[in-house]
Amino acid sequence: MRFRSRLVVDLAQLGTNVSLLKEQYDHHQILFMVKADAYGHGMVSIVRYAVCELAIKEFGCATIGEALTLRTELPDLEFDIYVFSDVQIELQVCTELYLHRRIIPVISNRQDLEFLLEHNDFRHFPLILKFNTGMNRLGINDDQVSDVIRMIKKSGRSSIYHLMTHFATADEDLAQHTLGIKQQNVFENLVREFQTQGIQIERTSRANSGALEQLAGFQDSHIRPGLLLYGPHSVKPDLREKSWWRGQLLSQLETYIINVFKVKKGDTIGYGATHVQNDGVIAVIALGYGDGFSTRYQGVTLKHAGHNGVVMGRVNMDMAQVFFPLQAFEDLKVGEKFVIWNHEVEPFMNLAQQSQTLTYELFCQLSSRVPRIHQLRT
Ligand SMILES: Cc1ncc(COP(=O)(O)O)c(C=O)c1O
Repeated sequence: MRFRSRLVVDLAQLGTNVSLLKEQYDHHQILFMVKADAYGHGMVSIVRYAVCELAIKEFGCATIGEALTLRTELPDLEFDIYVFSDVQIELQVCTELYLHRRIIPVISNRQDLEFLLEHNDFRHFPLILKFNTGMNRLGINDDQVSDVIRMIKKSGRSSIYHLMTHFATADEDLAQHTLGIKQQNVFENLVREFQTQGIQIERTSRANSGALEQLAGFQDSHIRPGLLLYGPHSVKPDLREKSWWRGQLLSQLETYIINVFKVKKGDTIGYGATHVQNDGVIAVIALGYGDGFSTRYQGVTLKHAGHNGVVMGRVNMDMAQVFFPLQAFEDLKVGEKFVIWNHEVEPFMNLAQQSQTLTYELFCQLSSRVPRIHQLRT
């Protein structure tokens, strides 16, 4: 575990981000996606704060293991957990967890649906169905709707607790993109078809962050934000200008300088002996790919004390070298804090772009060696 390289997570900013979202979606319930350790932010602390301070009551995990962690670590809190992708409902160990730990599987295929409808112990369990309307990843295909209606009726049920779908292109203009338009229409038709056939739909959701930035999914009872609540935009640059999102990052990734030395043009540094192109200064920072500061950071610009540095040479397992112009020398001190990203959204978006990584990935790739420190910024 690191000591001074850490991800500082500001829980109060989560409150601000949620308030901003509610200004637009005031009649909607939030199903907050906290999979992958809350996108790397420390799931247990995030959920505790969201339940206790922000009155969020529904959370989305990818795996039953994540859901179990929440139930185990937060035994006294009242909230629902949905498992979205790694459901494994037929495994006895998982069946028991669903039944006894109040974890709800999102049903995305016919076999799982059949199992849930036919298993006597699940007869009072909420039925949550995810349909594939064009994402082509998970989800029951929309052409199976008649079959699904027949199966539901045969089981003696007359309602679906939550019907959902997921967009493939929410980062693009949903009102213009052929697939975006198709997905919305298919989902509307599905809702209508169920209702026409006498199946009541209690809740619906479709909008993830990109869709929310475009104010889609108003007709639903629920919204399913992930990335947006952690701060960044989710839509592509041309749509960002039109986006109403003004949230900030919850997190600041910080490390410190463990060595500083001057170099001359032609000197070599680190593994692979990268040649330095100009005279300057190298600051060695205490983050490497063992921390999730991946080799993709090579070549990106990082600011320190008003100077622009460039990650130079090969990122190592435990360290990375940042090259600065000579005039930065006086401002680079061993032991000083060095910030990779702060709460500002734009520099973080640039970091993702420069390292050709998804913003999602910058968060998620941070390893367990980097402690997540949860604070309330004052
Ligand atoms: C089914 C589902 N809904 C919602 C989300 C949240 O997406 P985002 O983080 O883009 O808001 C995800 C994340 O991938 C998801 O898989």
